[in-house]
Amino acid sequence: MKAQLARDNETAIGDYDRWAPVYDIVFGPIFHRGRQAAIAAAERIGGRILEVGIGTGIALRDYSPRNRIVGIDISAQMLEKARARVSELRLAHVEQLSVMDASNLDFPDNSFDVVMAQYVVSTVPRPEATLDEFARVLKPGGEIILASRLSEASGIRRSIEHFVAPAARKLGWRTEFGWERYLAWEARTPSIELVERRKMPPLGHFALIRFRKTDPQHLIETSGVRDAHGTIRRQ
Ligand SMILES: C[S@@+](CC[C@H](N)C(=O)[O-])C[C@H]1O[C@@H](n2cnc3c(N)ncnc32)[C@H](O)[C@@H]1O
Repeated sequence: MKAQLARDNETAIGDYDRWAPVYDIVFGPIFHRGRQAAIAAAERIGGRILEVGIGTGIALRDYSPRNRIVGIDISAQMLEKARARVSELRLAHVEQLSVMDASNLDFPDNSFDVVMAQYVVSTVPRPEATLDEFARVLKPGGEIILASRLSEASGIRRSIEHFVAPAARKLGWRTEFGWERYLAWEARTPSIELVERRKMPPLGHFALIRFRKTDPQHLIETSGVRDAHGTIRRQ
């Protein structure tokens, strides 16, 4: 299992190290509207923001300088581009850029007001474990904001996806991560609730998805009690 994960991550590192020099030219415009929508959602909350799979840091200058941005990515080459962008544009609101695996985040629980991942969840080998990590490092009341490719369970679009799967894999995308898996993840994660799912271009194959981490205080008020150890017990 660990060995397989390491192999899958090595593949992603190789793919994205190779994409790094041309990534902004190829993928800058296509995902522009989705990124703008995701950042607008993050700005409504603001504060300390973790951007996972930050890549070349293409979205960095779109955040308000009032926020503090921490970026991580598994590809050192992509991050090198992000670091060059930070120094070129003097982006003082960027607190940290580190090589890290999204499914094994080296941050304490409840560290961020927003966890942002743009076009990342469908590229990682263990999407559910990655979402678990997002929920862990998010503060109660904060949001996970995803711009993501959504695969179809059936129908014509599913057939097209099946046909283009080998090309999609070259871009680092797994085609099989569909909406039903997000819903299953939400259902088994008590601290998480869905806030929004909105279709995004290009071609409606992508979506903006927002999850909120429930505030324990709110839970107590609505349906729970805190026990002698300070743990919330839902009723
Ligand atoms: C499609 S690119 C998206 C880049 C950027 N977020 C954007 O909006 O263009 C996917 C990014 O996720 C990164 N990535 C893939 N697997 C990862 C993992 N396990 N942990 C962290 N980053 C990962 C890749 O290196 C790449 O930079």
